[in-house]
Amino acid sequence: MKISLEHLQKKYGKTCALSDFSIDMSPGIYALLGPNGSGKSTLMNIITDNLKADRGEIFYEDENIPRENVLTLGPRFRALLGYMPQYPAMYGNFTVWDYMWYMATLKDLYSSEKRRKRKQLIAEEIEKRLCEVELLEVAHSKISHLSGGMKQRLALAQALLGKPSVIILDEPTAGLDPKQRIAVRNLIARIALDRIVLIATHVVTDIEFIAKSIILLKEGKIVDVASAAELSRKMEGKVWDLPLGAEDDVSAMEKNYRVVGILKNEENGNVHLRVLSNVAPTMQATPLSPTLEDYYLFVFGKV
Ligand SMILES: Nc1ncnc2c1ncn2[C@@H]1O[C@H](COP(=O)(O)OP(=O)(O)O)[C@@H](O)[C@H]1O
Ligand SMILES: [Mg+2]
Repeated sequence: MKISLEHLQKKYGKTCALSDFSIDMSPGIYALLGPNGSGKSTLMNIITDNLKADRGEIFYEDENIPRENVLTLGPRFRALLGYMPQYPAMYGNFTVWDYMWYMATLKDLYSSEKRRKRKQLIAEEIEKRLCEVELLEVAHSKISHLSGGMKQRLALAQALLGKPSVIILDEPTAGLDPKQRIAVRNLIARIALDRIVLIATHVVTDIEFIAKSIILLKEGKIVDVASAAELSRKMEGKVWDLPLGAEDDVSAMEKNYRVVGILKNEENGNVHLRVLSNVAPTMQATPLSPTLEDYYLFVFGKV
């Protein structure tokens, strides 16, 4: 299975939301990493055919379908897609169960089965998906009574209906607390086997350990595509631990150095800065091993 995005472009007036975007995706997790406004949702809306690109094409192929433009495939491609939008529309007076049923119907799930069999299969499928995101116990609650995190997991559950082979998740962990973030991250890692998963996020830790490939997006353009390890390696020799002297103060140091972290040693009260610099900023500085976050901050500046 493969999706090829070729030279996609989208402009809003003078704003170039997406510019000459090309990438091939095979099963595995791809992260679309970039700050707000970098074009992540625009790309996802184009892939899911909610938005027309000004230029460029998308091709799909698998063992049953030879390489073909997804617009020509139309409903056949959409049937393979699971999509969690950044701002999903949900009706507050629906129950969780009804909403899942409504989405299953929109997706035409098991449409070739006879009515009774179809109802049973849909019910089983909804139960499985709600169980996966730990919402089965609130299946009969109204959506308006759910917390933000629960709504987010419901949006994820509907994207997984019918075992789609291509899953598009737009900021799936937005609004979740740290524990829920980890749960969603582990769930995504589990469902990614044999499927293409594309996750948009501006949170490095959401994808650092689960994505096989990270697409860094800045102002609609790809800055880099590589694994987390490869991207981190680019910062080798550029990340420093800088112990703060008694007469130094943090804001003065921030004027001179790219400070990405401040750490206080509780035992002796010493403050250490994490600094990005091509050369050792001072004699006292010692090199640190770089992380993906260092690279993100290097590319995008302070956030
Ligand atoms: N409907 C729209 N009309 C005008 N500009 C838009 C519209 N949607 C997005 N944009 C602009 O396109 C750029 C990319 O936006 P978006 O794809 O939403 O980024 P992201 O999802 O990474 O935050 C931004 O500059 C945004 O302001
Ligand atoms: Mg977005």
